[in-house]
Amino acid sequence: MNRVAGKVAVVTGGALGIGRATCLLLAKEGATVAVTDLLDKEGRDLVKEIVEKGGQAAYWHLNVTQEANVKQVISEVREKWGKIDILVNNAGLAGVNKPTHEIEENEWNALMAVNVNGVFLCTKYAVISMLETGGGSIINISSVYGLIGAPDLPPYHASKGAVRLMSKTDALLYAKNNIRVNSVHPGYIWTPLVENLLAEQGDVTEGRKKLDRAHPLGHVGEPDDVAYGILYLASDESKFVTGSELVIDGGYTAG
Ligand SMILES: NC(=O)c1ccc[n+]([C@@H]2O[C@H](COP(=O)([O-])OP(=O)(O)OC[C@H]3O[C@@H](n4cnc5c(N)ncnc54)[C@H](O)[C@@H]3O)[C@@H](O)[C@H]2O)c1
Repeated sequence: MNRVAGKVAVVTGGALGIGRATCLLLAKEGATVAVTDLLDKEGRDLVKEIVEKGGQAAYWHLNVTQEANVKQVISEVREKWGKIDILVNNAGLAGVNKPTHEIEENEWNALMAVNVNGVFLCTKYAVISMLETGGGSIINISSVYGLIGAPDLPPYHASKGAVRLMSKTDALLYAKNNIRVNSVHPGYIWTPLVENLLAEQGDVTEGRKKLDRAHPLGHVGEPDDVAYGILYLASDESKFVTGSELVIDGGYTAG
């Protein structure tokens, strides 16, 4: 019940999928959670659910691509709760699924704005706060697509590879400041992102079966499978862990 008791967490893209599961679990384990997203209704409903279950949370509208918005939300969370111990850089898009030579520059940039610039901007302002309050843990959600290639989603691969190395650089830069930075690499997890991706490609049920078969454990993951890894990295149980890559993929990359 108390694995992150007394800590303040900011979760980006917290309204759906992996972010939502993470907000629920961090709150259940004692953290005070800033649920942030573009989806205000879903975000506010989630806060209500957390509070009804006895947890502590509040909602902020946050577009991770907008520096002024990021700066303002981080400073408001800090003002409300005194510190930020945990940042989960979770907001992300799958982006266009076309071969590289067919991608428009604006399509490439739109994906990078969220998946890469968003991680940079949220890290920047969270670190400024963590440097003042004595440290923290930053968890960047990359992907198995940040570890190995596949013949699809070129901008997504590039973005998740970038997030992997941004995590290692920041881990080294801020180790002396007691700020840990790690990346998480999920295989396919059943969330609106994956469901929408399959819907764009055709039959969702058939697509899911194909994805299930791609994971040696025989099925895609659930948001909680990733949330438990994030909880570990957020907690003091991982106090000697920084610059690491936590792979949660049902064996997808083991071969
Ligand atoms: N689902 C998977 O299979 C899978 C696998 C590996 C990695 N991931 C990564 O995990 C993270 C969460 O994915 P998910 O599957 O839960 O996605 P999702 O689409 O279900 O949820 C993503 C959330 O991010 C929010 N978001 C989108 N753009 C935003 C912006 N500009 N600012 C703030 N919030 C924004 C959305 O509103 C949504 O609530 C992403 O970074 C994704 O790349 C997912």
